[in-house]
Amino acid sequence: MCPQRKTKQQLLMELRALRKRNEELEAFANESQLARMGFQGSDELLRKVFKTIPDLFAFIDRDFRILLSNWHGGYDYVPEEVRKGTPICYKAYYNSDKPCDHCHVAEVFKTGKPVTREKMNPRIGHVEIRAYPIFDESNNVILVTENIRDITKRKQAEEALEKARDSAEQANEALKTTHKQLLHQEKMASIGQLAAGVAHEINNPMAFITSNFSTLNKYMERLSAFIGDQDAVFRGDLNPDDLAAKRKELKVDKILNDAARLIEESLEGAERVRKIVQDLKGFSRVDEAEYKYADMNQCLESTINIVWNELKYKAKLVKELDDIPQIQCWPRQLNQVFMNLLVNAANSIEKQGNIVVKTSSDERNVYITVSDTGSGIPDEIRERIFEPFFTTKEVGKGTGLGLSISYDIVKKHGGEITVVSEVGKGSLFRVRLPFKVSEEMV
Ligand SMILES: Nc1ncnc2c1ncn2[C@@H]1O[C@H](COP(=O)(O)OP(=O)(O)OP(=O)(O)O)[C@@H](O)[C@H]1O
Ligand SMILES: [Mg+2]
Repeated sequence: MCPQRKTKQQLLMELRALRKRNEELEAFANESQLARMGFQGSDELLRKVFKTIPDLFAFIDRDFRILLSNWHGGYDYVPEEVRKGTPICYKAYYNSDKPCDHCHVAEVFKTGKPVTREKMNPRIGHVEIRAYPIFDESNNVILVTENIRDITKRKQAEEALEKARDSAEQANEALKTTHKQLLHQEKMASIGQLAAGVAHEINNPMAFITSNFSTLNKYMERLSAFIGDQDAVFRGDLNPDDLAAKRKELKVDKILNDAARLIEESLEGAERVRKIVQDLKGFSRVDEAEYKYADMNQCLESTINIVWNELKYKAKLVKELDDIPQIQCWPRQLNQVFMNLLVNAANSIEKQGNIVVKTSSDERNVYITVSDTGSGIPDEIRERIFEPFFTTKEVGKGTGLGLSISYDIVKKHGGEITVVSEVGKGSLFRVRLPFKVSEEMV
């Protein structure tokens, strides 16, 4: 007999029934699995959980009695006979006759709020305590659960970290001091270099001023002699006709012409010395430098004056200075930057070349560029030239701090210093300086 074909509806119902049965079987399987593992009821489960917790976990009542505890977390120092029954917590933990000061259990009972604190347990070390309230139906705290974790190792690690941080800070301080000393040394070095250049620049005019004065002195003697001759004519001791011959003999006319030239030249020399001395002031007391309005063109002019001795034999200097606004800055520090760039430019030229100094501005910044037709900077060192102590100069010739100091100074002004360079053609350093330094930097 052909079995009766089931309707689609019947099949769906059977499928649903089968699924339900399957779920029941699965639940049964879980239960029997739990039973096989020994968890017969919730007490058993709680006890197993208790045993797996590595920290101390305890239930304590209002009278400080420990109703249940796993005695973990280092608390196994409490003797077995004390642990039995319902020991009083302060007695069991600290062998004390009264509750501890700032007792967390008492606090949770009083406030009904959880408490977390750290404490020293003389037998264990640093412990972290977390205590929570358990309420009855009327919302009264009936029990406190206490979870105590041994955090001695963590504390030690924290202390070690703290010490490490302290020594890192000390090392940092020491580094800062060394850095300052080095900056100081660099400053001394550049002052030394400057002093030599300036001495030369002052010596030159002083030499011709001295020589001019000694010539003028001789001229004065001859002029005195000629005045003496004139007096003799007045007195009748000398024939007036002889005076013209005397005038010629003493070269009075030549002296008068030449003296004017010598005086003019000496005045120019004195003016040059005066200017150098004035510009030198711009370099003195860099540390006390004030923050003020300054004209970068003027700063460049006086810096060029100071380093002229370094530049003049190597390069033709071209100045293309725009009419730029004054900026708020530390001008003495910027003088140092310009000095470093100019000296580097001169140093990069082997025999003869050009150095061009340009200034310009836009609506926010002024730009100063110093370019040279020197050796150029190879790609592989371009990234490193602003590093402290990076130098390609011979030992004793360069400290390698010039550009690193310049970089710091420009950065302090909220500006930037960039370089483009081609080996064999030359380099161009560009300094951008905003009109004003941001408030927090001043
Ligand atoms: N205009 C330039 N042309 C070619 N190389 C340059 C130029 N400016 C800097 N450099 C390179 O960058 C290096 C670092 O310059 P920096 O001014 O910091 O130190 P330095 O000039 O070597 O020594 P210091 O300035 O202390 O006397 C130089 O040694 C040089 O190799
Ligand atoms: Mg340099």
